[in-house]
Amino acid sequence: METAVTEGRIEIRVFPDLESLSHEAVHIFVETSRQLISERKSFSVAISGGSTPRMLYTLLGSDQYRDTVGWKSIHVFWADERCVPPEHRDSNFRHAFESFLSKVPVPDKNIHRIRGEKGPEQGAQEYENELRRHFGMEGFPVFDLVLLGLGEEGHTASLFPDSTALNATVRLAVPAYRDRPDHNRVTLTLPVLSNALHAVFMVSGISKSRAIANILMQEQNRDRYPVEPIQSAGRNVTWLLDKEAAALLGTGRVCCSA
Ligand code: 6PG
Repeated sequence: METAVTEGRIEIRVFPDLESLSHEAVHIFVETSRQLISERKSFSVAISGGSTPRMLYTLLGSDQYRDTVGWKSIHVFWADERCVPPEHRDSNFRHAFESFLSKVPVPDKNIHRIRGEKGPEQGAQEYENELRRHFGMEGFPVFDLVLLGLGEEGHTASLFPDSTALNATVRLAVPAYRDRPDHNRVTLTLPVLSNALHAVFMVSGISKSRAIANILMQEQNRDRYPVEPIQSAGRNVTWLLDKEAAALLGTGRVCCSA
């Protein structure tokens, strides 16, 4: 299926369950990377942590999909990372490495880990330097794909509602201070996430249904959600929802299982 990236399209797709949602996500990853690698020999993706994308990551490293991706031309970045060592159980890098990066032939130099263990400020600065080395010194990076999740209260990456990180308009990566030092994070900023050619949100579970309804249906209080600037940036945004997360959308939009 052609997955041509068209400017400014917001697509909502509802799947029966997380498994079918994850298979669609891996299809988007494979087809979008294949198309862009064939066009310009490179593909950059920023991935998220959390539990929702774990099946996707396992699929990417599986016998079924591993050899369908041009890994040697892919650059893997993170949308955010906790301020813990890479071997820590909470490390987003560790989850991705164990699920697929350790199983695919992506060159080490193409894995652009956020060094959260350096602490929120130094980690953010070093990541910004890495982003500048890869994408250039001018303007905001243009990721080919960003894979994002959604928290129950509407956060994405480590951009939480009402956090100061939302105010970053120049920096590419900033600290996200939380209630405890080991909960502090480093996150890409909204200008970077909004600049991606294609943002794919993977959202599963009834606990996300209220945030999904507010973001995708409510006109009045939509701008309190960090994802709004990503939605309205005029790029390609795809929402992959399971039925539970879409429960309050009220349109019975169950379509296209994988
Ligand atoms: C992270 C993610 C975060 C996540 C949401 C949803 O590092 O945890 O970047 O934004 O996507 O918290 O998490 P779940 O997928 O576990 O619901």
